[in-house]
Amino acid sequence: MTGCATAAKGWLRAAKSVAVLTGAGASAESGIPTFRGAGGLWRNYKPEDLATPGAFARDPKLVWEWYDWRREIVAKAQPNAGHYALAKLEQHKAAFTLATQNVDDLHERAGSKNIIHLHGEIFVERCLKCAKEYRHRKGPHVCECGGITRPGVVWFGEGLPEAALKRAMDAMCSCDVALIVGTSAVVYPAASLIPLAKRCGAKVIEVNLEETPMSGIVDCSLKGKGGEILPTLL
Ligand code: OAD
Repeated sequence: MTGCATAAKGWLRAAKSVAVLTGAGASAESGIPTFRGAGGLWRNYKPEDLATPGAFARDPKLVWEWYDWRREIVAKAQPNAGHYALAKLEQHKAAFTLATQNVDDLHERAGSKNIIHLHGEIFVERCLKCAKEYRHRKGPHVCECGGITRPGVVWFGEGLPEAALKRAMDAMCSCDVALIVGTSAVVYPAASLIPLAKRCGAKVIEVNLEETPMSGIVDCSLKGKGGEILPTLL
């Protein structure tokens, strides 16, 4: 940890309101692959083949198989010490919001309550025709209206769920401290929540293995694993 860890601890202790943004790095220690960097999913798979509306229209079976494979990894994974530390922090704050870009359910399983899924959820599926949502089921994916379902996640070229983004923006703009964990901060609009928190006057703390494009604008950038840093920070 760097020299600002002590200051960061103090900001977090004093904060009445905390907003968190997590990315794939938050689940990396649980064995869920990240998207970028060594071993990242986008090193081995092309997003345009698997994570766009066009890919699903061309080959829904392939896209479902890819999500089935990822769902199996998530189902076997367990929350790590970072997830648990964030859940514990929520219990001590008057206002707490956790916006995640992750489609897994590890924050829920660790006990976090006020969670916003900016990029959807891998265990949800949505009808292409009527937009009705279901918990993911085995078997044929046909909606009661007769339409077929698709994974309930946000794909490239699609907008984020508006209400979710608005809630996340409100939280980032009204918090005393924003904690940014395990995101490369290159995918927008999620990444824009970081400068938003800063502009609105929050102390911004980043926890990441590496430098990100946001490291220079945050108040404290802590280099290391979320599962190791968060428990000591909180
Ligand atoms: P990325 O894979 O882009 O970035 C993961 C980040 O986590 C990197 O900056 C790593 O350095 C960091 N990291 C890895 N292990 C870590 C650990 N143990 N502790 C702390 N940090 C760690 O993932 P995201 O930023 O979440 O979108 O990617 C954003 C979006 O791009 C995803 O939600 C997904 C993807 O395409 C959609 O699917 C719409």
